[in-house]
Amino acid sequence: MTDKKAHLTIDGIDTKIECPVLSSTIGPAVIDVTGITKNGFFTFDPGFMSTASCESKITYIDGDEGILLHRGYPIEQLAVSSDYLETCYLLLNGELPTPEQKAEFTSEIKKHSAVDSSIANIIKSFKRDSHPMAILCSAVAALAAVYNDEIDITNADSRKLTAYRLIGQMPTLSAMVYKHRQGEEFIAPDNNLSFAENYLHMTFGKAGQAPNVSKTIAKAMDRIFVLHADHEQNASTSTVRLSGSSGTNPFAAIAAGISTLWGPAHGGANEAVLEMLEEIGTLDNVESCVARAKDKTSGFRLMGFGHRVYKNFDPRAKVMKQTCDEVLSELGLQNEPMLAIAKRLEQIALEDPYFISKKLYPNVDFYSGIIMKAIGIPTEMFTVIFALGRAVGWYSHWDEMVSSPYKIGRPRQRYTGSPKRDYPKK
Ligand code: CMC
Repeated sequence: MTDKKAHLTIDGIDTKIECPVLSSTIGPAVIDVTGITKNGFFTFDPGFMSTASCESKITYIDGDEGILLHRGYPIEQLAVSSDYLETCYLLLNGELPTPEQKAEFTSEIKKHSAVDSSIANIIKSFKRDSHPMAILCSAVAALAAVYNDEIDITNADSRKLTAYRLIGQMPTLSAMVYKHRQGEEFIAPDNNLSFAENYLHMTFGKAGQAPNVSKTIAKAMDRIFVLHADHEQNASTSTVRLSGSSGTNPFAAIAAGISTLWGPAHGGANEAVLEMLEEIGTLDNVESCVARAKDKTSGFRLMGFGHRVYKNFDPRAKVMKQTCDEVLSELGLQNEPMLAIAKRLEQIALEDPYFISKKLYPNVDFYSGIIMKAIGIPTEMFTVIFALGRAVGWYSHWDEMVSSPYKIGRPRQRYTGSPKRDYPKK
């Protein structure tokens, strides 16, 4: 709390409404508007452009400076020096683990990586050409059926166990979704492998064959997970918080987050980037694609460009670009035609006054899509991988919310429909 107050005066109303100004550790202070309802007003902020929906200690973003901190640590440092499971521990617990804590956390995650047979049957019941996000969403919601009786959201140990189950089973579920669509047998998790190696093994391995995963690809995959682990109050995380605020089962709340992530303005953008690059097809078509993105009447946007919060650069995109170069050179794909199209698109957009003036830079999804394509992951699976990495962020926010007193999220509206009227007499 600061000793400052914001004062709101409204034409025709004598009382001045006083709103406390609350400080943040870093970043903008917030104006507490909770008192204005008793004066007969709601705030109106479509798209939550100016609304801080909650208080959180997990992640900080400065969009103008391109800063992303998890529990205070810059994402660039975590991406290079940490790994996904350590980042998960950090997000969930607030501090980096000691070596012993990390070993115990890793062992717990591995212990909980196998999926109940009922979930395997649910996945198998889907049509093979179902969108992977639809299957993943249903499978995660179904975990609520498996564990509902074992979850006490008011108990910290129970919540910890649920975190192990979620983080441990997300790679298994994601790989099962892929295998089912391919018409191949599921591969059981292998506890001798790292988190990312295990995911790649369960995805690309063949039943009965020993794991054979490239260290470079596993490192790139792990980095993709780290870079997607959390991102403050984005649409899917806000959905998880809102859904969880009803006291629902956390798997159900996270299934709601997965549904939100699916959309092309959010996590679905990585899939849309590749579809766009494929549609562009040749270098000659890049300029007309940029022209179409600038034409408001076309309804088309350059996928992988722009961000609600980052208006300078996306710090995740910087690390992702470097990983992209490493992976493409490891796989000898530097001369892939699609990469040339992506590079040309990036160059034109970065030099074009339309994109410069609107501060539209390549975001994380622009490069992650290219890496995943190079690794051999089908385009429709990209958002599943985003969900896999983001699961810990969703869970950390849900856990933070339910660990302290909270209210059900219940926004109000500006009603613009018909005034009260009588039903016609018959
Ligand atoms: N291509 C062309 N024009 C764009 C684009 C784009 N990708 N993004 C924004 N604009 C224009 C938009 O038309 C608007 O112009 P004007 O001010 O003249 O009306 C202006 O830029 C501001 O756009 P906005 O939609 O008001 O901005 P927003 O903050 O609501 O939207 C966004 C952010 C990410 C949804 C949007 O930039 C977008 O649709 N980008 C493409 C999809 C994408 O890559 N999404 C992934 C986001 S990063 C991953 C994640 O965190 O989920």
